[in-house]
Amino acid sequence: MENNRSSWGSNLGFLLAAIGSAVGLGNIWGFPYKMGKSGGFTFLIVYLLLAIFVGMIIMVSELAVGRKTKLSPIDAYKQVSKKFAWIGWLATIAPYLIMTFYTVLGGYCLQYIALNMTKLSFGNASVGLDGGGAFGAMLTTPFGCVVFTILFTIICMLIVQGGVSGGIEKFNKIGMPALFVMLLIIIIRSLTLPNASEGLKFMFVPGYAVKAGFIDSAPDLVTVLGTAGGQMFFSLSLAMGAILTYGSYLGKEENLVKNSVIIVAADTLIALMAGIAVIPAAVSYGLSQGMAPGEITLRGPGLLFITLQNVFSNMGKVGPLFGVIFYVLVLIAAISSAISLMETIAAHWIDKDLAKGENDTRSQRVLIVSLLILVGAVIVAADGLGENFSPASLLGISTVPTFLDCFLDFFDCWSEGIAMPLGAMLMALMIGWEKTPDLVLDEVAHGDPSEGFKKFYKVCIRIVVPIVMAFVLAGQMIDFFGGNQVIWYVVSVLALVVFWVVAAAGKKEA
Ligand code: PFF
Repeated sequence: MENNRSSWGSNLGFLLAAIGSAVGLGNIWGFPYKMGKSGGFTFLIVYLLLAIFVGMIIMVSELAVGRKTKLSPIDAYKQVSKKFAWIGWLATIAPYLIMTFYTVLGGYCLQYIALNMTKLSFGNASVGLDGGGAFGAMLTTPFGCVVFTILFTIICMLIVQGGVSGGIEKFNKIGMPALFVMLLIIIIRSLTLPNASEGLKFMFVPGYAVKAGFIDSAPDLVTVLGTAGGQMFFSLSLAMGAILTYGSYLGKEENLVKNSVIIVAADTLIALMAGIAVIPAAVSYGLSQGMAPGEITLRGPGLLFITLQNVFSNMGKVGPLFGVIFYVLVLIAAISSAISLMETIAAHWIDKDLAKGENDTRSQRVLIVSLLILVGAVIVAADGLGENFSPASLLGISTVPTFLDCFLDFFDCWSEGIAMPLGAMLMALMIGWEKTPDLVLDEVAHGDPSEGFKKFYKVCIRIVVPIVMAFVLAGQMIDFFGGNQVIWYVVSVLALVVFWVVAAAGKKEA
């Protein structure tokens, strides 16, 4: 079976694919805004600490479990743990749920590329698109959103059907360098706009976002921890099976620690670059229109599809060209992440087929997975971010918690909100307490980790990661469900204690 299993063509190919999985809409949307909202540098420092002490640790662990078992999440976790085998299911269902909205957002990018291209051919400065109008019209046209969602899904499907090295690796080898160059072009344009420095200050000067009136008040440190933790996990594609699956195609000779450092560093660099490309442009445009800082949309879909579109429309003749470059860049980021999620789900069945001696089922399995994704995605596309209908409107609920706002939030809640932090917490408890950290360190030893790293890993996986994950879990539940914050902290700590007891009891039996 192993002989027929896919593998990467080279370590560089793996790195670009893993960076491609990490670099996505999370970097371009989530990071810049969350950084500004959470106090600029404070957020950055918390983010970096979390990336080193938690993200890196989970990244190494996932790569090690994947490479050790050479299996996709469900069977990999079954092989390594009796008590926590079901983490594999979390790590397969969560990618499915994410794909139900990621494909819709990918479809929006396709529509915006098309829109900017039509303006390109007119070449007339006076007919720039109005971002707000274009976005509203798009959301309230479910048919178009469904069609473009299907188109985006087909693009991803064709790449994943091409195989691990023939499809995914090839796409990222071209896509990632292209994305980098396009990002540089947008950064140069953005930083040369009037008042761009205000946007830089919003991001990098502690306290500036509040002082200049962009936001009312800065969140407390615990909230920043939850926000930065959630963002870091989503951005690094952790605890959702993707990194484990990519690791399962990696050769024994590759150094997992070094690879993890490179992936974390590259993802953070691109997130910062995306911030520098997006925020100063948005701020510059807002100020030039006489808006007060607090009126400028710097978050959520509105940032990418309203504010940024207005920035391009305001640039005159060259605007549509920058628009096309920008939305193609976002599209590449979305595709490179979506294919990792699709591969994670499909790999489960492909592995099962291989075990039965059936070698040629990838295309068919990926097709079935794509159709399953579309079942959820069509609903997300049709509800138009809650403009047309929403879980709350269908249930007839009037005071709406975030998770019932629209189907995107609903699916995001169960995946990013719950499965991700819970999965990471359970994985750390499994490795640190049910098993021993050697489960990972022995596998990493193929890349020969230093004694210092081993000590660092042991403390992080046993203590730091589980505790931080309880905070992240609480933060996510507060965000999605609202209500009394204390209750969510109590629930998270209780979950931590219960699972720790279960894990530690498992160790005695082993
Ligand atoms: N990392 C991607 C982003 O920042 O948009 C999203 C993602 C991809 C999350 C793959 C999880 C995953 F497994």
